[in-house]
Amino acid sequence: MAEFKEAPAGAPMGEKLLTWVDNRFPASKLYKEHLSEYYAPKNFNWMYFFGSLAMLVLVIQIVTGIFLTMHYKPDANLAFGSVEYIMRDVPWGWLVRYMHSTGASAFFIIVYLHMFRGMLYGSYQKPRELIWIFGVAIFLCLMGEAFMGYLLPWGQMSYWGAQVIINLFAAIPFIGPDLSILIRGDYVVGDATLNRFFALHVIALPLVIVGLVAAHIIALHEVGSNNPDGVEIKAKKDASGKPLDGIPFHPYYTVHDILGVSVFLLLFSAVIFFAPTMGGFFLEFNNFIPADPLKTPLHIAPVWYFTPYYSMLRAVTTPFVQVLVGLVLVAGVVGFLFAGLKGVWRFVPLAGALVGAGLLLAFDPKFWGVVVMGAAVMILFPLPWLDRSPVRSIRYRPSWNKWFYGVFVVNFVVLGYLGILPPTTIGTLVSQAGTLFYFGFFMLMPWWSRLGEFKPVPDRVVFQPH
Ligand code: HEM
Repeated sequence: MAEFKEAPAGAPMGEKLLTWVDNRFPASKLYKEHLSEYYAPKNFNWMYFFGSLAMLVLVIQIVTGIFLTMHYKPDANLAFGSVEYIMRDVPWGWLVRYMHSTGASAFFIIVYLHMFRGMLYGSYQKPRELIWIFGVAIFLCLMGEAFMGYLLPWGQMSYWGAQVIINLFAAIPFIGPDLSILIRGDYVVGDATLNRFFALHVIALPLVIVGLVAAHIIALHEVGSNNPDGVEIKAKKDASGKPLDGIPFHPYYTVHDILGVSVFLLLFSAVIFFAPTMGGFFLEFNNFIPADPLKTPLHIAPVWYFTPYYSMLRAVTTPFVQVLVGLVLVAGVVGFLFAGLKGVWRFVPLAGALVGAGLLLAFDPKFWGVVVMGAAVMILFPLPWLDRSPVRSIRYRPSWNKWFYGVFVVNFVVLGYLGILPPTTIGTLVSQAGTLFYFGFFMLMPWWSRLGEFKPVPDRVVFQPH
Protein backbone atom coordinates (compact mmCIF):
# COMPACT_ATOMS: atom_id res chain seq x y z
CA MET A 1 0.00 0.00 0.00
CA ALA A 2 1.27 3.48 -0.86
CA GLU A 3 2.20 5.74 2.04
CA PHE A 4 -0.53 8.02 3.39
CA LYS A 5 0.01 11.72 2.52
CA GLU A 6 -1.11 14.60 4.75
CA ALA A 7 -2.50 17.91 3.42
CA PRO A 8 -0.51 20.84 4.91
CA ALA A 9 -2.06 22.44 8.00
CA GLY A 10 -4.47 25.23 7.01
CA ALA A 11 -4.85 23.89 3.44
CA PRO A 12 -8.20 24.69 1.74
CA MET A 13 -11.00 22.15 2.12
CA GLY A 14 -10.72 21.16 -1.55
CA GLU A 15 -7.05 20.21 -1.17
CA LYS A 16 -7.77 18.24 2.00
CA LEU A 17 -10.58 16.37 0.24
CA LEU A 18 -8.33 15.58 -2.75
CA THR A 19 -5.58 14.30 -0.45
CA TRP A 20 -8.16 12.12 1.32
CA VAL A 21 -9.31 10.72 -2.06
CA ASP A 22 -5.74 10.33 -3.40
CA ASN A 23 -4.87 8.20 -0.36
CA ARG A 24 -7.62 5.80 -1.43
CA PHE A 25 -7.94 6.20 -5.24
CA PRO A 26 -5.28 7.47 -7.71
CA ALA A 27 -7.33 10.51 -8.83
CA SER A 28 -4.43 13.01 -9.15
CA LYS A 29 -2.15 10.32 -10.56
CA LEU A 30 -4.66 9.46 -13.32
CA TYR A 31 -5.27 13.14 -14.08
CA LYS A 32 -1.52 13.74 -14.45
CA GLU A 33 -0.79 10.58 -16.44
CA HIS A 34 -3.61 11.05 -18.94
CA LEU A 35 -4.09 14.83 -19.09
CA SER A 36 -1.78 17.37 -17.49
CA GLU A 37 1.40 15.31 -17.93
CA TYR A 38 0.49 13.32 -21.02
CA TYR A 39 2.87 14.79 -23.56
CA ALA A 40 1.37 14.86 -27.05
CA PRO A 41 3.31 15.99 -30.14
CA LYS A 42 2.93 19.73 -30.68
CA ASN A 43 2.17 19.41 -34.41
CA PHE A 44 -1.29 17.81 -34.28
CA ASN A 45 -3.57 19.14 -37.02
CA TRP A 46 -7.34 19.02 -37.55
CA MET A 47 -7.13 15.34 -38.50
CA TYR A 48 -6.51 14.73 -34.78
CA PHE A 49 -9.96 16.02 -33.84
CA PHE A 50 -11.67 12.78 -34.74
CA GLY A 51 -10.58 10.63 -31.78
CA SER A 52 -12.10 12.99 -29.23
CA LEU A 53 -15.13 13.54 -31.49
CA ALA A 54 -15.67 9.77 -31.65
CA MET A 55 -15.66 9.71 -27.86
CA LEU A 56 -18.15 12.58 -27.77
CA VAL A 57 -20.50 10.81 -30.19
CA LEU A 58 -20.18 7.59 -28.19
CA VAL A 59 -21.37 9.48 -25.10
CA ILE A 60 -24.20 11.14 -27.08
CA GLN A 61 -25.34 7.72 -28.38
CA ILE A 62 -25.30 6.16 -24.91
CA VAL A 63 -27.14 9.03 -23.21
CA THR A 64 -29.79 9.48 -25.93
CA GLY A 65 -30.08 5.67 -26.15
CA ILE A 66 -30.91 5.45 -22.44
CA PHE A 67 -33.73 8.00 -22.85
CA LEU A 68 -35.07 6.27 -25.96
CA THR A 69 -35.14 2.95 -24.10
CA MET A 70 -37.41 4.52 -21.45
CA HIS A 71 -40.20 4.85 -24.04
CA TYR A 72 -39.40 2.26 -26.71
CA LYS A 73 -41.18 -1.13 -26.76
CA PRO A 74 -39.16 -4.09 -28.15
CA ASP A 75 -42.27 -5.92 -29.37
CA ALA A 76 -43.09 -6.55 -33.04
CA ASN A 77 -46.65 -5.28 -32.47
CA LEU A 78 -45.68 -2.16 -30.56
CA ALA A 79 -42.19 -1.12 -31.71
CA PHE A 80 -43.15 1.08 -34.69
CA GLY A 81 -45.91 2.79 -32.69
CA SER A 82 -43.61 3.41 -29.73
CA VAL A 83 -41.12 5.22 -31.98
CA GLU A 84 -43.96 7.37 -33.39
CA TYR A 85 -45.02 8.02 -29.78
CA ILE A 86 -41.48 9.16 -28.95
CA MET A 87 -41.53 11.48 -32.00
CA ARG A 88 -44.94 13.04 -31.33
CA ASP A 89 -45.89 12.73 -27.65
CA VAL A 90 -42.81 12.33 -25.46
CA PRO A 91 -41.54 15.81 -24.48
CA TRP A 92 -38.36 16.47 -26.54
CA GLY A 93 -38.61 12.88 -27.78
CA TRP A 94 -38.15 13.98 -31.40
CA LEU A 95 -34.88 15.67 -30.44
CA VAL A 96 -33.57 12.65 -28.58
CA ARG A 97 -34.48 10.35 -31.46
CA TYR A 98 -33.00 12.60 -34.15
CA MET A 99 -29.83 13.04 -32.07
CA HIS A 100 -29.53 9.24 -31.90
CA SER A 101 -30.28 8.59 -35.58
CA THR A 102 -28.03 11.44 -36.78
CA GLY A 103 -25.42 10.34 -34.22
CA ALA A 104 -25.21 6.94 -35.91
CA SER A 105 -24.26 8.46 -39.28
CA ALA A 106 -22.00 11.04 -37.60
CA PHE A 107 -20.22 8.21 -35.80
CA PHE A 108 -19.37 6.51 -39.09
CA ILE A 109 -18.27 9.74 -40.81
CA ILE A 110 -15.96 10.47 -37.86
CA VAL A 111 -14.63 6.93 -37.56
CA TYR A 112 -13.95 6.68 -41.31
CA LEU A 113 -11.98 9.95 -41.16
CA HIS A 114 -10.22 8.81 -37.99
CA MET A 115 -9.14 5.54 -39.66
CA PHE A 116 -8.03 7.34 -42.81
CA ARG A 117 -5.92 9.72 -40.72
CA GLY A 118 -4.25 6.63 -39.20
CA MET A 119 -3.53 5.34 -42.71
CA LEU A 120 -2.13 8.66 -43.94
CA TYR A 121 0.28 9.07 -41.07
CA GLY A 122 1.16 5.36 -40.67
CA SER A 123 -0.13 5.52 -37.09
CA TYR A 124 -0.59 1.73 -37.04
CA GLN A 125 3.13 1.06 -37.54
CA LYS A 126 5.32 -0.23 -34.70
CA PRO A 127 4.78 0.28 -31.74
CA ARG A 128 1.10 1.24 -32.31
CA GLU A 129 -0.16 -2.04 -33.80
CA LEU A 130 -2.46 -2.79 -30.85
CA ILE A 131 -4.05 0.68 -30.94
CA TRP A 132 -4.99 -0.10 -34.55
CA ILE A 133 -6.19 -3.65 -33.79
CA PHE A 134 -8.42 -2.42 -30.96
CA GLY A 135 -9.66 0.22 -33.41
CA VAL A 136 -10.64 -2.32 -36.07
CA ALA A 137 -12.39 -4.38 -33.37
CA ILE A 138 -14.31 -1.23 -32.36
CA PHE A 139 -15.23 -0.69 -36.01
CA LEU A 140 -16.57 -4.26 -36.31
CA CYS A 141 -18.66 -3.86 -33.14
CA LEU A 142 -19.89 -0.50 -34.37
CA MET A 143 -21.11 -2.12 -37.57
CA GLY A 144 -22.97 -4.78 -35.56
CA GLU A 145 -24.37 -2.11 -33.26
CA ALA A 146 -25.68 -0.01 -36.17
CA PHE A 147 -27.14 -3.03 -37.98
CA MET A 148 -29.05 -4.19 -34.90
CA GLY A 149 -30.18 -0.68 -33.99
CA TYR A 150 -31.65 -0.27 -37.46
CA LEU A 151 -34.09 -3.15 -36.89
CA LEU A 152 -35.59 -1.56 -33.78
CA PRO A 153 -37.97 1.05 -35.39
CA TRP A 154 -39.56 -1.94 -37.18
CA GLY A 155 -40.13 -0.06 -40.43
CA GLN A 156 -40.09 -1.60 -43.90
CA MET A 157 -36.33 -1.03 -44.35
CA SER A 158 -35.55 -2.30 -40.85
CA TYR A 159 -37.43 -5.48 -41.57
CA TRP A 160 -36.32 -6.18 -45.13
CA GLY A 161 -32.75 -5.01 -44.61
CA ALA A 162 -32.38 -7.45 -41.71
CA GLN A 163 -34.07 -10.17 -43.77
CA VAL A 164 -31.59 -9.75 -46.65
CA ILE A 165 -28.47 -9.56 -44.49
CA ILE A 166 -29.39 -12.46 -42.19
CA ASN A 167 -30.26 -14.57 -45.24
CA LEU A 168 -26.70 -14.02 -46.46
CA PHE A 169 -25.43 -16.06 -43.54
CA ALA A 170 -27.52 -18.97 -44.88
CA ALA A 171 -25.15 -19.07 -47.89
CA ILE A 172 -22.26 -20.26 -45.68
CA PRO A 173 -21.66 -23.97 -46.48
CA PHE A 174 -22.69 -26.57 -43.87
CA ILE A 175 -23.49 -24.29 -40.92
CA GLY A 176 -25.22 -21.45 -42.81
CA PRO A 177 -28.91 -22.44 -42.57
CA ASP A 178 -28.68 -23.23 -38.84
CA LEU A 179 -26.63 -20.12 -38.19
CA SER A 180 -29.22 -17.86 -39.81
CA ILE A 181 -31.99 -19.44 -37.70
CA LEU A 182 -29.84 -18.91 -34.61
CA ILE A 183 -29.43 -15.22 -35.45
CA ARG A 184 -33.13 -14.72 -36.23
CA GLY A 185 -34.43 -16.93 -33.44
CA ASP A 186 -37.11 -17.97 -35.95
CA TYR A 187 -37.52 -19.02 -39.58
CA VAL A 188 -38.29 -15.45 -40.59
CA VAL A 189 -37.38 -12.11 -39.02
CA GLY A 190 -39.92 -11.67 -36.23
CA ASP A 191 -40.54 -10.81 -32.61
CA ALA A 192 -37.73 -13.10 -31.37
CA THR A 193 -35.29 -11.33 -33.72
CA LEU A 194 -36.41 -7.93 -32.47
CA ASN A 195 -35.98 -8.98 -28.84
CA ARG A 196 -32.48 -10.35 -29.24
CA PHE A 197 -31.33 -7.42 -31.38
CA PHE A 198 -32.68 -5.08 -28.71
CA ALA A 199 -30.73 -6.88 -25.97
CA LEU A 200 -27.54 -6.84 -28.02
CA HIS A 201 -28.01 -3.22 -29.14
CA VAL A 202 -28.74 -1.66 -25.76
CA ILE A 203 -26.40 -3.56 -23.51
CA ALA A 204 -24.10 -6.25 -24.92
CA LEU A 205 -22.40 -4.37 -27.74
CA PRO A 206 -22.22 -0.97 -25.98
CA LEU A 207 -20.43 -2.70 -23.09
CA VAL A 208 -17.94 -4.29 -25.47
CA ILE A 209 -17.44 -1.01 -27.36
CA VAL A 210 -16.81 0.99 -24.16
CA GLY A 211 -14.33 -1.69 -23.01
CA LEU A 212 -12.54 -1.64 -26.35
CA VAL A 213 -12.36 2.17 -26.37
CA ALA A 214 -10.76 2.01 -22.89
CA ALA A 215 -8.22 -0.54 -24.20
CA HIS A 216 -7.64 1.68 -27.28
CA ILE A 217 -6.80 4.72 -25.13
CA ILE A 218 -4.71 2.74 -22.61
CA ALA A 219 -2.64 1.33 -25.49
CA LEU A 220 -2.32 4.84 -26.98
CA HIS A 221 -1.13 6.35 -23.70
CA GLU A 222 1.32 3.49 -23.17
CA VAL A 223 3.24 4.20 -26.39
CA GLY A 224 2.30 7.86 -26.95
CA SER A 225 0.62 9.50 -29.94
CA ASN A 226 1.98 9.54 -33.45
CA ASN A 227 1.73 12.81 -35.41
CA PRO A 228 1.47 14.13 -39.00
CA ASP A 229 5.26 13.85 -39.46
CA GLY A 230 5.41 10.31 -38.10
CA VAL A 231 8.42 11.40 -35.98
CA GLU A 232 8.83 9.58 -32.63
CA ILE A 233 8.85 12.45 -30.13
CA LYS A 234 10.09 10.24 -27.28
CA ALA A 235 13.43 9.92 -29.08
CA LYS A 236 14.40 13.50 -28.12
CA LYS A 237 13.87 14.45 -24.47
CA ASP A 238 14.99 17.37 -22.29
CA ALA A 239 16.97 17.02 -19.03
CA SER A 240 13.77 16.36 -17.04
CA GLY A 241 12.77 13.52 -19.38
CA LYS A 242 9.98 15.38 -21.21
CA PRO A 243 9.83 15.02 -25.00
CA LEU A 244 11.23 18.19 -26.61
CA ASP A 245 8.39 18.23 -29.14
CA GLY A 246 5.68 17.32 -26.63
CA ILE A 247 3.13 19.59 -24.96
CA PRO A 248 0.81 18.63 -22.09
CA PHE A 249 -2.53 17.34 -23.38
CA HIS A 250 -4.27 19.62 -20.90
CA PRO A 251 -4.63 22.55 -21.45
CA TYR A 252 -3.26 22.60 -25.01
CA TYR A 253 -5.22 19.83 -26.64
CA THR A 254 -8.33 20.17 -24.52
CA VAL A 255 -8.62 23.69 -25.96
CA HIS A 256 -7.72 22.43 -29.46
CA ASP A 257 -10.42 19.76 -29.19
CA ILE A 258 -13.02 22.32 -28.02
CA LEU A 259 -12.64 23.92 -31.46
CA GLY A 260 -13.30 20.55 -33.12
CA VAL A 261 -16.28 19.93 -30.84
CA SER A 262 -17.73 23.38 -31.63
CA VAL A 263 -17.53 22.89 -35.39
CA PHE A 264 -18.95 19.39 -35.04
CA LEU A 265 -21.88 20.51 -32.86
CA LEU A 266 -22.68 23.25 -35.38
CA LEU A 267 -22.89 20.75 -38.24
CA PHE A 268 -24.61 18.13 -36.09
CA SER A 269 -27.30 20.63 -35.00
CA ALA A 270 -27.78 21.82 -38.58
CA VAL A 271 -28.61 18.26 -39.63
CA ILE A 272 -30.83 17.53 -36.63
CA PHE A 273 -32.87 20.72 -36.96
CA PHE A 274 -32.97 21.24 -40.71
CA ALA A 275 -32.40 17.89 -42.42
CA PRO A 276 -32.85 15.02 -39.95
CA THR A 277 -33.44 12.44 -42.68
CA MET A 278 -30.64 13.94 -44.80
CA GLY A 279 -32.64 13.32 -47.95
CA GLY A 280 -33.15 9.66 -47.07
CA PHE A 281 -29.47 8.94 -46.38
CA PHE A 282 -29.56 9.08 -42.58
CA LEU A 283 -33.17 7.87 -42.20
CA GLU A 284 -34.57 6.08 -45.23
CA PHE A 285 -38.03 7.09 -46.39
CA ASN A 286 -39.28 3.50 -46.54
CA ASN A 287 -38.63 3.22 -42.84
CA PHE A 288 -41.50 5.57 -42.06
CA ILE A 289 -43.80 2.74 -43.21
CA PRO A 290 -44.48 -0.04 -40.65
CA ALA A 291 -42.80 -3.41 -41.35
CA ASP A 292 -44.97 -5.61 -43.54
CA PRO A 293 -43.70 -9.19 -44.02
CA LEU A 294 -46.06 -9.59 -46.99
CA LYS A 295 -44.87 -6.56 -48.97
CA THR A 296 -41.23 -6.53 -50.16
CA PRO A 297 -40.05 -2.99 -51.06
CA LEU A 298 -38.98 -2.59 -54.69
CA HIS A 299 -35.44 -1.66 -53.78
CA ILE A 300 -33.67 -2.70 -50.57
CA ALA A 301 -30.39 -0.96 -49.71
CA PRO A 302 -28.53 -0.66 -46.42
CA VAL A 303 -27.75 2.70 -44.82
CA TRP A 304 -24.94 4.62 -46.58
CA TYR A 305 -22.15 3.56 -44.23
CA PHE A 306 -22.58 -0.09 -45.21
CA THR A 307 -22.98 0.45 -48.95
CA PRO A 308 -19.28 0.19 -49.97
CA TYR A 309 -19.27 -3.34 -48.52
CA TYR A 310 -22.70 -4.08 -49.96
CA SER A 311 -21.36 -3.13 -53.41
CA MET A 312 -18.48 -5.57 -52.95
CA LEU A 313 -20.98 -8.28 -51.98
CA ARG A 314 -23.05 -7.65 -55.11
CA ALA A 315 -19.92 -7.50 -57.28
CA VAL A 316 -19.29 -11.21 -56.73
CA THR A 317 -21.16 -12.80 -59.63
CA THR A 318 -20.37 -16.05 -61.48
CA PRO A 319 -18.21 -14.29 -64.16
CA PHE A 320 -16.38 -12.41 -61.39
CA VAL A 321 -15.57 -15.70 -59.62
CA GLN A 322 -14.26 -17.02 -62.96
CA VAL A 323 -11.98 -13.96 -63.26
CA LEU A 324 -10.79 -14.60 -59.69
CA VAL A 325 -10.01 -18.22 -60.59
CA GLY A 326 -7.89 -16.89 -63.48
CA LEU A 327 -6.09 -14.42 -61.19
CA VAL A 328 -5.38 -17.09 -58.58
CA LEU A 329 -3.94 -19.43 -61.22
CA VAL A 330 -1.75 -16.65 -62.68
CA ALA A 331 -0.52 -15.80 -59.17
CA GLY A 332 0.30 -19.50 -58.63
CA VAL A 333 2.33 -19.66 -61.85
CA VAL A 334 4.14 -16.39 -61.05
CA GLY A 335 4.96 -17.78 -57.59
CA PHE A 336 6.20 -21.02 -59.12
CA LEU A 337 8.45 -19.22 -61.60
CA PHE A 338 9.69 -16.19 -59.70
CA ALA A 339 9.30 -16.70 -55.92
CA GLY A 340 12.81 -18.18 -55.75
CA LEU A 341 11.70 -21.18 -53.68
CA LYS A 342 13.95 -24.25 -53.67
CA GLY A 343 13.27 -27.98 -54.25
CA VAL A 344 9.80 -29.27 -53.55
CA TRP A 345 8.80 -25.87 -52.06
CA ARG A 346 8.73 -24.49 -55.62
CA PHE A 347 5.43 -26.31 -56.14
CA VAL A 348 3.72 -24.82 -53.08
CA PRO A 349 2.39 -21.68 -54.89
CA LEU A 350 1.09 -23.85 -57.72
CA ALA A 351 -0.60 -26.32 -55.39
CA GLY A 352 -2.05 -23.45 -53.30
CA ALA A 353 -3.44 -21.82 -56.45
CA LEU A 354 -5.04 -25.08 -57.58
CA VAL A 355 -6.70 -25.62 -54.19
CA GLY A 356 -7.83 -21.96 -54.15
CA ALA A 357 -9.28 -22.18 -57.65
CA GLY A 358 -11.02 -25.46 -56.77
CA LEU A 359 -12.62 -23.93 -53.69
CA LEU A 360 -13.73 -20.86 -55.65
CA LEU A 361 -15.52 -23.08 -58.15
CA ALA A 362 -16.90 -25.51 -55.55
CA PHE A 363 -19.09 -23.01 -53.67
CA ASP A 364 -21.90 -20.69 -54.70
CA PRO A 365 -20.76 -17.15 -55.74
CA LYS A 366 -23.27 -15.84 -53.17
CA PHE A 367 -21.14 -17.43 -50.45
CA TRP A 368 -17.99 -15.84 -51.89
CA GLY A 369 -19.83 -12.51 -51.90
CA VAL A 370 -20.32 -12.88 -48.16
CA VAL A 371 -16.65 -13.83 -47.77
CA VAL A 372 -15.56 -10.79 -49.79
CA MET A 373 -17.78 -8.49 -47.72
CA GLY A 374 -16.35 -9.86 -44.46
CA ALA A 375 -12.79 -9.88 -45.79
CA ALA A 376 -13.11 -6.21 -46.77
CA VAL A 377 -13.19 -5.34 -43.06
CA MET A 378 -10.97 -8.16 -41.79
CA ILE A 379 -8.15 -7.13 -44.12
CA LEU A 380 -7.73 -4.00 -41.98
CA PHE A 381 -6.47 -6.08 -39.03
CA PRO A 382 -3.08 -7.03 -40.53
CA LEU A 383 -2.45 -3.53 -41.97
CA PRO A 384 0.51 -2.86 -39.60
CA TRP A 385 2.28 -5.85 -41.17
CA LEU A 386 1.18 -5.28 -44.75
CA ASP A 387 2.73 -1.83 -44.84
CA ARG A 388 6.49 -2.23 -45.32
CA SER A 389 7.23 1.45 -45.93
CA PRO A 390 10.42 2.59 -44.16
CA VAL A 391 8.68 5.84 -43.13
CA ARG A 392 5.37 6.40 -41.38
CA SER A 393 3.84 9.59 -42.70
CA ILE A 394 2.63 10.12 -46.25
CA ARG A 395 4.54 13.43 -46.11
CA TYR A 396 7.81 11.57 -46.56
CA ARG A 397 6.60 8.81 -48.85
CA PRO A 398 7.05 9.01 -52.64
CA SER A 399 4.81 11.78 -54.06
CA TRP A 400 2.69 9.37 -56.11
CA ASN A 401 1.45 7.83 -52.85
CA LYS A 402 -0.78 10.88 -52.35
CA TRP A 403 -2.52 10.17 -55.66
CA PHE A 404 -2.77 6.52 -54.85
CA TYR A 405 -4.43 7.17 -51.49
CA GLY A 406 -6.69 9.70 -53.29
CA VAL A 407 -7.79 7.00 -55.75
CA PHE A 408 -8.41 4.67 -52.79
CA VAL A 409 -10.82 7.21 -51.28
CA VAL A 410 -12.59 7.93 -54.58
CA ASN A 411 -12.93 4.19 -55.18
CA PHE A 412 -14.45 3.69 -51.71
CA VAL A 413 -16.93 6.54 -52.27
CA VAL A 414 -17.89 5.23 -55.73
CA LEU A 415 -18.45 1.76 -54.26
CA GLY A 416 -20.61 3.37 -51.58
CA TYR A 417 -22.62 5.28 -54.19
CA LEU A 418 -23.17 2.19 -56.35
CA GLY A 419 -24.30 0.27 -53.27
CA ILE A 420 -27.20 2.70 -52.83
CA LEU A 421 -28.45 2.23 -56.40
CA PRO A 422 -30.30 -0.79 -57.79
CA PRO A 423 -27.85 -3.06 -59.66
CA THR A 424 -27.18 -2.32 -63.35
CA THR A 425 -24.79 -4.00 -65.80
CA ILE A 426 -22.39 -1.06 -65.88
CA GLY A 427 -22.70 -0.49 -62.12
CA THR A 428 -21.80 -4.12 -61.47
CA LEU A 429 -18.76 -3.86 -63.77
CA VAL A 430 -17.56 -0.71 -62.00
CA SER A 431 -18.04 -2.27 -58.57
CA GLN A 432 -16.14 -5.36 -59.69
CA ALA A 433 -13.21 -3.20 -60.76
CA GLY A 434 -13.56 -1.24 -57.48
CA THR A 435 -13.55 -4.45 -55.43
CA LEU A 436 -10.38 -5.65 -57.17
CA PHE A 437 -8.74 -2.27 -56.55
CA TYR A 438 -9.77 -2.25 -52.88
CA PHE A 439 -8.28 -5.69 -52.24
CA GLY A 440 -5.29 -5.04 -54.51
CA PHE A 441 -4.49 -1.93 -52.47
CA PHE A 442 -4.13 -3.97 -49.29
CA MET A 443 -2.87 -7.32 -50.63
CA LEU A 444 -0.15 -5.80 -52.77
CA MET A 445 0.84 -3.29 -50.09
CA PRO A 446 3.90 -5.32 -48.98
CA TRP A 447 5.20 -4.72 -52.51
CA TRP A 448 4.14 -1.19 -53.46
CA SER A 449 4.70 0.39 -50.04
CA ARG A 450 8.48 -0.09 -50.54
CA LEU A 451 8.59 1.34 -54.08
CA GLY A 452 9.79 4.79 -55.09
CA GLU A 453 11.91 7.52 -53.61
CA PHE A 454 11.37 8.30 -49.93
CA LYS A 455 12.07 11.78 -48.60
CA PRO A 456 14.36 12.32 -45.59
CA VAL A 457 12.39 12.32 -42.32
CA PRO A 458 13.39 15.24 -40.04
CA ASP A 459 14.70 14.56 -36.50
CA ARG A 460 12.16 16.87 -34.94
CA VAL A 461 8.53 17.50 -35.86
CA VAL A 462 7.76 20.32 -38.32
CA PHE A 463 5.70 22.93 -36.55
CA GLN A 464 4.69 26.44 -37.58
CA PRO A 465 3.12 28.36 -34.68
CA HIS A 466 0.15 30.47 -35.76
C1 HEM B 1 -15.55 4.54 -30.88
C2 HEM B 1 -14.57 4.64 -31.73
C3 HEM B 1 -13.22 5.24 -31.44
C4 HEM B 1 -12.86 6.10 -30.46
C5 HEM B 1 -13.74 6.72 -29.37
C6 HEM B 1 -11.45 6.38 -30.64
C7 HEM B 1 -10.71 7.24 -29.84
C8 HEM B 1 -9.41 7.62 -30.09
C9 HEM B 1 -8.74 8.72 -29.44
C10 HEM B 1 -9.34 9.65 -28.39
C11 HEM B 1 -7.48 8.78 -29.95
C12 HEM B 1 -6.42 9.82 -29.62
C13 HEM B 1 -6.71 11.11 -30.37
C14 HEM B 1 -6.49 11.00 -31.84
O1 HEM B 1 -5.44 10.48 -32.23
O2 HEM B 1 -7.40 11.41 -32.61
C15 HEM B 1 -7.33 7.71 -30.90
C16 HEM B 1 -6.18 7.41 -31.61
C17 HEM B 1 -6.08 6.40 -32.56
N1 HEM B 1 -7.10 5.62 -33.04
FE1 HEM B 1 -9.02 5.62 -32.39
N2 HEM B 1 -10.97 5.66 -31.70
C18 HEM B 1 -12.03 4.95 -32.22
C19 HEM B 1 -11.98 4.11 -33.31
C20 HEM B 1 -10.83 3.79 -34.04
C21 HEM B 1 -10.79 2.93 -35.19
C22 HEM B 1 -12.02 2.27 -35.81
C23 HEM B 1 -9.48 2.86 -35.59
C24 HEM B 1 -8.85 2.09 -36.72
C25 HEM B 1 -9.33 1.05 -37.26
C26 HEM B 1 -8.69 3.68 -34.70
C27 HEM B 1 -7.32 3.87 -34.76
C28 HEM B 1 -6.60 4.78 -34.01
C29 HEM B 1 -5.17 5.01 -34.12
C30 HEM B 1 -4.18 4.27 -35.06
C31 HEM B 1 -4.84 6.01 -33.21
C32 HEM B 1 -3.44 6.62 -32.96
C33 HEM B 1 -3.33 7.82 -33.82
C34 HEM B 1 -2.00 8.55 -33.71
O3 HEM B 1 -1.40 8.50 -32.64
O4 HEM B 1 -1.62 9.14 -34.74
N3 HEM B 1 -9.55 4.23 -33.77
N4 HEM B 1 -8.53 7.02 -30.98
